[in-house]
Amino acid sequence: MEGRKIILGISGGIAAYKAAFLIRLFKKAGASVRVVGTTNAFEFITRVTLESLSENKVYDQVFGTQNDYTTEHVALTDWGDVLVVAPATANILGKFANGIADDALSTTLLAFNKQVFVAPAMNCKMYEHFAVQHNLGILKNHGVRIIEPAEGFLACGYEGRGRMEEPEGIFRIVRDYLSVKNESMHGKHILVSAGPTHEAIDPVRYIGNHSSGQMGYALAEELAGRGARVTLVSGPSEQIAQAGIQLIKVRTAQEMFDACMEHFKLADAVVMAAAVADYTPEKSHDHKIKKEDKKASMTIKLIPTKDILATMGRKKKAQVLAGFALETDNEEANAIKKLQAKNLDLIVLNSLNDPGAGFSHDTNKITIIDNKKQIFRYPLKSKKEAAADIADALEKTMGL
Ligand code: CTP
Repeated sequence: MEGRKIILGISGGIAAYKAAFLIRLFKKAGASVRVVGTTNAFEFITRVTLESLSENKVYDQVFGTQNDYTTEHVALTDWGDVLVVAPATANILGKFANGIADDALSTTLLAFNKQVFVAPAMNCKMYEHFAVQHNLGILKNHGVRIIEPAEGFLACGYEGRGRMEEPEGIFRIVRDYLSVKNESMHGKHILVSAGPTHEAIDPVRYIGNHSSGQMGYALAEELAGRGARVTLVSGPSEQIAQAGIQLIKVRTAQEMFDACMEHFKLADAVVMAAAVADYTPEKSHDHKIKKEDKKASMTIKLIPTKDILATMGRKKKAQVLAGFALETDNEEANAIKKLQAKNLDLIVLNSLNDPGAGFSHDTNKITIIDNKKQIFRYPLKSKKEAAADIADALEKTMGL
């Protein structure tokens, strides 16, 4: 950890005394530590202790005069490689998850755009409360690493989950994160598709689907994080692509086909996470269709779109091809059929029967099937974590 810069956030819980041990571990490993505390943190541990151990001034006031800058929270966030909040009380987790910035630690959290770790510590009834769990879910889905509390005797006399992970455990997790920069996909070009397509009926209406694009964007981010050069072909989506990802925005299945086929040639692997329309109106009207006879029904004739994956499956040379299958019945058997019909190497199955999986959820429950019909079933996870599982399977298939 030589030369690494750690911002340690301390909020007001009894476990704050353990922060002293954590600072010692980071310092002994060669890292620099700067502490940001909430006012309540100093009810449990003194500023002198923290300043002596970290060999730096403690930052705890947004408008104070003892700090070097009036915008200390911004200067500090530029400085730090990671931000670790230990202990993280229910209060600071709630502020962080909801974007509230009313003290030194919460403003620092909001201004920090690198990896954040939180180590919750509180009474077990508070920890299990839906509000705390909801806030932890939000943080998790935005990539914050939750260092789960352990079960045991709590300072409040209760026994249950809520005891902060020991300093050694927190130290190990942060050290592993900082020491391993995963570059396992360096030099590989991966094409990812995401989102729905919109098939125009006229200039006002279209036929679409409920795909949010979240899964495809999470995958693109995960693969880029592993050093791959990622081209993301996205249908209409609210998601934001991380810097460094080549984003190509398209609207229709035909536009997605054209963009994907262009990049397919030079790609090492393709992951088609997009929910591409299977049919499109035969005719897209130039002018808004007016209702003529209110009682008469109207018919829109749909014609099939080109199947992008199947086309790639026919043309592929060394490319590894992965598709998605969203099924409601005979899920695994149907996914295997799709894998074979489209000549894929992998297929990621989502079942609409699994609660929390598929469209419009932050979570997903996937099964990955390879071309040897090996089936890997995963539990319900955030889409970010599911993306890491898919990336692992892809790496294996690519022989990395
Ligand atoms: N796909 C594609 N081009 C299309 C339609 C689908 O590349 N025109 C891709 C999707 O991105 C996904 C996979 O094919 O990776 C499976 O799509 P799905 O719609 O589930 O399968 P279909 O083959 O269309 O079969 P069905 O709708 O009958 O289940």
